[in-house]
Amino acid sequence: MKKLIKKYISKQDKALISSVTNYDINNLIHEVKDWTPFNNNAKHIITRFDKKGMHLLRSLLAEKIIDDLRESKFNALQCSEYTEFKETGLIIRHDIDINKDKEWIYKIISTFEGSNYGLSLRNFNVNNIIATSGYDIQHSPHIDTFQPSCKLWIYKNDMSLENGPFCYVKGSHRNSKEKLSLLYSLSTERSRKLLNISNDYEGSTIGRLSSQTSNLLPLGEVTASLRLKVNNSFKSFDPKDINKTLRSFNLNEETPITGETGTLCIADISGMHRRFKGLDGSVRRSVRWSSLRRNLNPFSL
Ligand SMILES: [Fe+2]
Repeated sequence: MKKLIKKYISKQDKALISSVTNYDINNLIHEVKDWTPFNNNAKHIITRFDKKGMHLLRSLLAEKIIDDLRESKFNALQCSEYTEFKETGLIIRHDIDINKDKEWIYKIISTFEGSNYGLSLRNFNVNNIIATSGYDIQHSPHIDTFQPSCKLWIYKNDMSLENGPFCYVKGSHRNSKEKLSLLYSLSTERSRKLLNISNDYEGSTIGRLSSQTSNLLPLGEVTASLRLKVNNSFKSFDPKDINKTLRSFNLNEETPITGETGTLCIADISGMHRRFKGLDGSVRRSVRWSSLRRNLNPFSL
């Protein structure tokens, strides 16, 4: 990883991270003797090094590596949808039919993911059904991955707020100063809380600890995904409160992706998102595809 940091993390990147942590990131890079616990695809590693910017460094490094991959090996800069996707983390199109438009869809997914998955319709869940019945943890804002990764939906029914559409915070996929500040607050708080319980958690992941930690902290506080804390809770689904919290980090307000049947949405799920809480009894039907990128270690590409 040290080699990758040298190759991809510029002086400006280091200054950016240091300005969020108030700690010279060069000292962290020097201090870490064993990078093994951090050299994997885990969404977040519990570590005392978070205070010094470890999660920010892993996130920014993954972003730089994947940007390079898509732009140098997948000619992303020649793909007209890529500019919009890189800037906002979101592509919305209308009147899309998975059968008719599959070649175009395969092409943009491969470009955005920086990978040739040999996509075929078999990889798509063409009959995804989500029925709203009370609160679900997906109704609260969260970040699925620390590395750029896509998810795709094509609505199979008209989608208004009542049906529980996908919601996305445009631009929140990029590791801007605002996003890094949010990640710093979430990652340090989680690491601090878990390391207070036991030092044995150092270098571990929530995935590995879930059976032990599930009883130690309330639901939502310890899930593999980092979640937005709104009014001191990880379980908020109130759009007003959520937008107020997003504004406090100088991030955009969320955009609910409503639209008619055939609306396509591709989002980078390293950005903040959630499922809008629709009316009980409402249904969202869609074609869905989920990234394989997040199962890969971006530091071993
Ligand atoms: Fe998610």
